[in-house]
Parts: sequence; C-alpha cells; structure tokens
Amino acid sequence: MRVLRTQVGIVGAGPAGLLLGHLLHLNGIDSVIVENRSRDYVIDRVRAGVLEQGTVDLLIAMGVGERLQREGLRHDGLYISFRGNRHHIDMAELTGGKAITVYGQNEVVKDLIDARIATTRPLYFEAEDVSVGALESSSPVIRFRHGGADHEIRCDFLAGCDGFHGVCRPSIPERAIATYERIYPFGWLGILAEAAPSSTELVYTCHERGFALFSMRSPTITRLYLQVPPDEPIENWPDEAIWDEMLARMTTSDGWKPRVGRIVQKSVTPMRSFVAAPMRHGRLFLAGDSAHIVPPTGAKGLNLAASDVLVLARALKAYYEDRSTGWLDEYSDVCLRRVWKAQRFSWWMTTTLHRAPDESAFDHQRQLADLDYLTGSRAAMTSLAEQYVGLPAEVSFESAGL
Ligand code: FAD
Ligand code: PHB
Repeated sequence: MRVLRTQVGIVGAGPAGLLLGHLLHLNGIDSVIVENRSRDYVIDRVRAGVLEQGTVDLLIAMGVGERLQREGLRHDGLYISFRGNRHHIDMAELTGGKAITVYGQNEVVKDLIDARIATTRPLYFEAEDVSVGALESSSPVIRFRHGGADHEIRCDFLAGCDGFHGVCRPSIPERAIATYERIYPFGWLGILAEAAPSSTELVYTCHERGFALFSMRSPTITRLYLQVPPDEPIENWPDEAIWDEMLARMTTSDGWKPRVGRIVQKSVTPMRSFVAAPMRHGRLFLAGDSAHIVPPTGAKGLNLAASDVLVLARALKAYYEDRSTGWLDEYSDVCLRRVWKAQRFSWWMTTTLHRAPDESAFDHQRQLADLDYLTGSRAAMTSLAEQYVGLPAEVSFESAGL
C-alpha cells in the first residue's frame, strides 16, 4: 500500500475538482486529485457550453483564460422563440454590459488539465475502486487502486467534486443530509453538427411539438437540443429524423432556421433538479454536481460548480493562514443561497419553455402568456438577463487569493 499525505484531497477531475485544485495551487495549498476516468474520456465528454460573465472573469483571474479569450464566443443577447417568432433579449444592455461566453466545457477542462500538469501537482486518472473514509476525523482519507497498487491519501480536508454519480455524497450517513429532488417528464436529445451557426446568438424555442434549443461551439460547429421523452432510446432518432424535427420546431416566420450538416455526436440526457444539504459532513466538502443538479435549460451547472469552489477556496485559504474555521463553517450556507436561486431560475426556464405531457389547455395558454409577457416587458427581460449572465458572486476573488 502506498500512503501519501496532502492538505486537500480532491475526488473528481471535472470542472469543480480541477478549478479547486488550481485555486489552491495559486494559494500555495497542496492537493491531490483522483479521477476514475481516463484523461481522454474527461476531455471528450460533451456537456456545457455557456459560461456566465463571473465564470469567465474567474478563469481569466486564475490565469487559465488565455485560449478562452481567444476562442470563446461572447454573446451579448439571446432569442426566445414561440408562436413562430423570435424575440431578442439584449442582455448586455439590460445588465450594464454583462454577457455570456460560449466555450465548450471540454475546452475548459482541457485548459485546466494542462494548467494542473504544468504545476506538477498530482492528478491520477483511471483510479479504480475509489472510496473516502474517516470523514469525521481530523485526517480523512481517499483510497483507490492505481497502476496495480493500493493507494491511501491522508488529508486535512476532502473535496467531493465527483459529480452526481460519484462516491462522496453516498459516503455521508443518510441521517446527516437532506435531499430535495424534482424529476422532469422529458429529456434532451443533443447533437453536434458540422454546420456554421446560422445565428450569432442562442435561440430557445417553445414550439407546439416541444422545446428546442439552438447553440454552437465554434464558427463551424452547431450544437442543438430537442425535448424528447426522458428514457428515449437514441436509436429511435436516425439523423434525418433529428433534422426534420429540429427544422419543424425551430423555423420561424421570418424564414430563420438552423443550417443542416453532418451530425458528429448525439445523446439523450434526462433532466432533474436536485439539492443535497448541507454541502458538508465533517471534513468532507461537496462542490458542483455532487451536491446539486439543475436541468440544463438555465445553463447553470458548470457555473454553480465554479462558484462553489471559489467559496471553498476562500475558506481553505483562511484556514491555512491562521487556522480560522469560520468560513469553512459558513461554506454550505453561502453556497446554498446561490444554488437555490439557480435552482429556481433553471426550473422556471425549464417549465416556461417545455411542453409537459400532462399539461392542460389552460396550462399551455398560461405558458404562452408568460412568454408574451417576458418578451414584452423590460422588467421581465431584465430579470431573465441578470440571472442568465449570472448573479453577483458570493465572495470576492481577492478573498480567495486572486
Ligand atoms: P462533473 O463534470 O460530473 O465531474 C465529476 C468528475 O468526477 C468526472 O470527471 C467523473 O468522471 C469523476 N468521478 C465520478 N465518480 C468518481 C469516482 N468514484 N472517483 C473518482 N472520480 C469520479 N452547465 C452550465 O453551466 N452551462 C451549460 O450550458 C450547461 N449545459 C449542459 C448541457 C448538458 C447536455 C448537460 C448534461 C449538462 C450541462 N451543464 C451546463 C451542466 C454541467 O455540465 C455540469 O454541471 C458540470 O459538469 C458540473 O461539474 P462537476 O465538476 O461538478 O461535475
Ligand atoms: C450548450 O451550448 O450546450 C447549451 C447552451 C444553453 C443551455 C444548455 C446548453 O441552456
């Protein structure tokens, strides 16, 4: 058995774990990151695309925003489409100049892995049988097998950054954690297509046939989503059927529609809202999807992961400076205030734009009135815009050592 010591043991090399590792590095705090998948798998996984203004600012302040600034696509606005018409929401104008940036999560993760490797601090990929223990002691541990040898990492603190299906949250005794959940009766079929985006901004569509979303990854790649049943087998959707449905839902009365191209990736994701509270047990701190899941309609998941780890980095920095535990004790409460606001926004975006299978005729007319109000009221558009670009950060970058 190989026994190692570190200050912070991080489980998971997704956005949460990698961002935390780098924030700690910038503060001279030692960490070990343990990931059960391969490096290629982690980088190739196609997921988020929208970064809030604050997430972009954070990546730049951390010194990992160089490629993001070069290749990211800044969007000042977005479109909401219903009854065949697109309505523009000028987010920058409504929020005093804030915007979102489209930059794939896999690019963020790639940049962060490169930064981690440059620090020479440990990052284990393809770790097997990962488990955590001694959570309530002053020396919690991560155990795993790697390269045929058993490893034990003894830590001061653990960060559970291992996503919704990870091992950290289930290692907390059930009595010590409350969970809140809502499962939606639909999922998203997502595709990447080799087609130049036909709009420079995202288009969220509520159509009689269901929700559809137009997004992009680069000047040559379009990213599109369709509402489908949650357990829909992808085999039910040959490429031609996907394009027929995308065009049926997205084409607007002014003739706008997505450009068709070769589909290079497709998958179905179910949708849920989930919160575990508190986000801490003993010396284990949960961050990102391991503690909460939002339906992707509000584009908040990765951004919440970033704000959690900023709060955690501030608390760990303070601990190592003068052994103060006040901010560690406040971690969960500070994060959960933002998490619940993002939950509310994501639920609202989801229910306002999707067709529920059990909705009544009244529900649908009310939904259309909601969209009509949203796109006709400056106050309503401002509310959407300020949440979509991201509410102000809970803690300053300075307090986290940036
Ligand atoms: P993850 O990315 O899940 O990372 C967890 C890591 O832990 C993974 O690498 C995993 O392999 C590893 N792991 C798991 N179990 C173990 C174990 N036992 N041991 C070791 N390692 C383990 N968010 C946005 O902000 N904007 C968007 O536009 C957006 N769009 C989305 C679109 C889709 C279709 C989906 C599915 C999600 C979207 N999200 C979006 C959400 C976003 O992708 C997630 O919230 C984000 O990945 C959370 O990061 P994380 O690091 O907390 O978790
Ligand atoms: C994406 O580009 O993948 C994307 C955009 C907006 C969302 C979700 C995902 O709400």
